[in-house]
Amino acid sequence: GMAEKSGFDHFMLKEIHEQPEALRRSIAGRLNEDTIHFNEVSLTAKELESYNKIYIVACGTAYYSGIVGKYAIENLARIPVEVDVASEFRYRDPLIDENTLVIVVSQSGETADTLAALREAQDKGARVIAICNTVGSTIPREADDVIYLHAGPEIAVASTKAYITMLMAFYMLAIYLSQVKGILNLSRSQELISELKRLPEKVEQIIDNSVDAIKELAKDYVDQNDAFFIGRSIDYAVSLEGALKLKEISYIHAEAYPAGELKHGPLALIVDGVPVVAVATQQSVIDKTLSNVKEVKARGGVVTGIVFEGEEVIEDLDYKIEIPKTDELLTAIPSVVPLQLLSYYVAIERGSDVDQPRNLAKSVTVE
Ligand code: G6P
Repeated sequence: GMAEKSGFDHFMLKEIHEQPEALRRSIAGRLNEDTIHFNEVSLTAKELESYNKIYIVACGTAYYSGIVGKYAIENLARIPVEVDVASEFRYRDPLIDENTLVIVVSQSGETADTLAALREAQDKGARVIAICNTVGSTIPREADDVIYLHAGPEIAVASTKAYITMLMAFYMLAIYLSQVKGILNLSRSQELISELKRLPEKVEQIIDNSVDAIKELAKDYVDQNDAFFIGRSIDYAVSLEGALKLKEISYIHAEAYPAGELKHGPLALIVDGVPVVAVATQQSVIDKTLSNVKEVKARGGVVTGIVFEGEEVIEDLDYKIEIPKTDELLTAIPSVVPLQLLSYYVAIERGSDVDQPRNLAKSVTVE
C-alpha cells in the first residue's frame, strides 16, 4: 500500500530516492582517512599474492555491477579479472583452483545459478567472497567471506539501490585489494576515499536536479521500438545497466554497445529518429566517444549525452544531462542515476507495471 511506499507512486521510485542513504550505510564504518576496513573480509598480503586471477560471477544487474568491478580492480589492484554470468560459468568447467579468488554478487543471496557457481568454485578449491544485500541468505552463509551491501530491502523487480551499493562495494574492495597488495600510494587512496564519501550527496543532487528534464525526455521515448546506449570503458559498463533497466520495465528493445564497436554492426540500425544515450564521462576517451556520437548524428540518431557539469565538447548532443564531476574511476555511481530515472519515466509514459514487469521475478531460484 501507499504507506510502505512513503508517498512514492512505486517502490522503484522510492528505492531510487533511497540511494544516497543506502550508499551512506554501505560505507559506514568502512572508510578511514586513507584505508578501507571490512569487518567480514580479511586477506593477508601473502594470501592475496597467491591469487593470480579473480572471477566475478553473478546474474542480471549484479553481473553488470561486476563489469564495473573488473575495471576498478584491474585499475587499482592490477590483478586480471574475468566477469561471467553464473549460468555460463558453472557449466563450462571453469579454469579455477586454489589460486583463484572468486567474487559472487547477489542482491537476494538466493539466485540458483549464482549459488551453484559458488559451490562449483569452492569444490575446485577457490576462495569465495560474496557481495550480498540480504543478511543471512544462502549465498553469504556458504561463502568464505562476505561484504554486505546494507542497501535495505529492495522490493521493485528492477534493481536500483542494490546495484548502486554493489558498485560502492566493488570500489571499496578494489581500494582494499590494492592497499593489501601494497601498491596504492597514500595520496591516491586519500583522494579516492574522500571522493567516495562525497558520492551520496552527488547522487542526491542528480535526483533533485534532473527529474524534470528526464520526464520531458521520456516523452520522446514513448513510441520508440529500439534504443541504444553507448560508452567506453566504465561508461560502457554503465550503458549495459541502463539498457537492461529500459528493457526490463518499459519493454523497449534496448542494446548497449561499446561506442567504438558501433561501426561493426549496430550503426546499420541507426536511422532517422532512433534514440541513443551516450554516456561520456571518461575524460581519457571522451573525444573518441564524441566522434562516435557524430557518426550517430550523421545517420539521424537522436543523442542524449550523460556528461560532467561544464563539459564543453557537446555541440553534437540533442539532449544533455549533467552530473557532478567525480574521479574518472568512480563515475559509474553518479552516471547510472539518470539512466534509472529515464527508464522509470519511460515506463510510466508507456503505462507498464513498473514494480512487477511481465515475465520477470525479483529472485530467480530455478535454474
Ligand atoms: C532477477 C532480478 C534482477 C536481478 C537478478 C539477480 O533477474 O529480476 O533484478 O539482478 O535476478 O538477482 P540477485 O538477487 O542474485 O542479485
